[in-house]
Amino acid sequence: MIKKGIILAGGSGTRMSPITKAVNKQLLPLYDKPLFFYPLSVLMLAQIKDILIIVNKGQVDQFKKVLPNGNRLGIKIQYAEQDKPRGLPDAFLVGEKFINNQPVSLILGDNFFYGQSLTKKLIECTKLTNGAKVFLHPVRKPSLYGIATINKKNKITKIIEKPKKTNSNLAVTGLYFFDNKVVNFCKFLKPSKRNELEIVDLLNKYKKNNKLTAEIIGRGGAWLDTGSIENFNDTANFVASIENRQGFKIGCLEEIAFNNNWISKKTIKDSINFYGNCDYSKYLYSIIN
Ligand code: DAU
Repeated sequence: MIKKGIILAGGSGTRMSPITKAVNKQLLPLYDKPLFFYPLSVLMLAQIKDILIIVNKGQVDQFKKVLPNGNRLGIKIQYAEQDKPRGLPDAFLVGEKFINNQPVSLILGDNFFYGQSLTKKLIECTKLTNGAKVFLHPVRKPSLYGIATINKKNKITKIIEKPKKTNSNLAVTGLYFFDNKVVNFCKFLKPSKRNELEIVDLLNKYKKNNKLTAEIIGRGGAWLDTGSIENFNDTANFVASIENRQGFKIGCLEEIAFNNNWISKKTIKDSINFYGNCDYSKYLYSIIN
């Protein structure tokens, strides 16, 4: 059973410069909340309560201003620093102590997921004890992502990072579930030509041992991009459309914690006091009244 989760929320943010010169990308507003609330909400929907957020050097205090710890959410949040963007598998090296030889989930701080059966699928994935599991989603531009080829039994037969040419349109999303061998595997990874540890190299180690499985988010679900300014803006508009149409918020951390019975109405009131007079607080107020 996976009980620990890591959010990798560092990175150089160059594709969104100059906006990201002074601020970590994951603190930028995706419509009405900081971007990192969305991946955090995914881990919480997966019932994961022990979470490490990895940020760039010198940025922990900025994140703590929004989320000092997990107390108001009934969970445990810790922070760690990555001194430079060494690649996604570096999350497991930075987080080695936190992981403590347990299976672990990783979500990238800029990934957005939405869809009806998502929670059920997430909980199913946390049952993993052996091997690794990735979430796949069809995309129109495969050259921008890690791409997997699968066979008729939904087994991954090939996985490549940002292929120039491929017959598959299934992107490997930034949500991964690993058994407790992951730290050890990462210790043997070598940096690629772009001088980063590559997530596909790690996934290929599992594939080689026949231990890599996939969960597909079909067209009824959404995995959206926040990689470029345009995609970031499109995703923010998606959140705005859904929230304004339905009256429900996407990625409201307190709501998820309350529905999971992790916090009381009194704790939600603490959050309302913390955030002050804003639409987010009004929404929290509506949950408890
Ligand atoms: O979003 C899914 C894609 O994420 C996958 O399909 C690819 O296989 C995977 O390599 C990755 O590709 P990106 O090009 O989107 O990765 P990027 O370098 O933009 O980093 C993704 C997030 O992780 C971003 O929020 C910054 C953060 N990050 C990245 C690196 C390399 C870190 O915090 N530290 C790092 O060292």
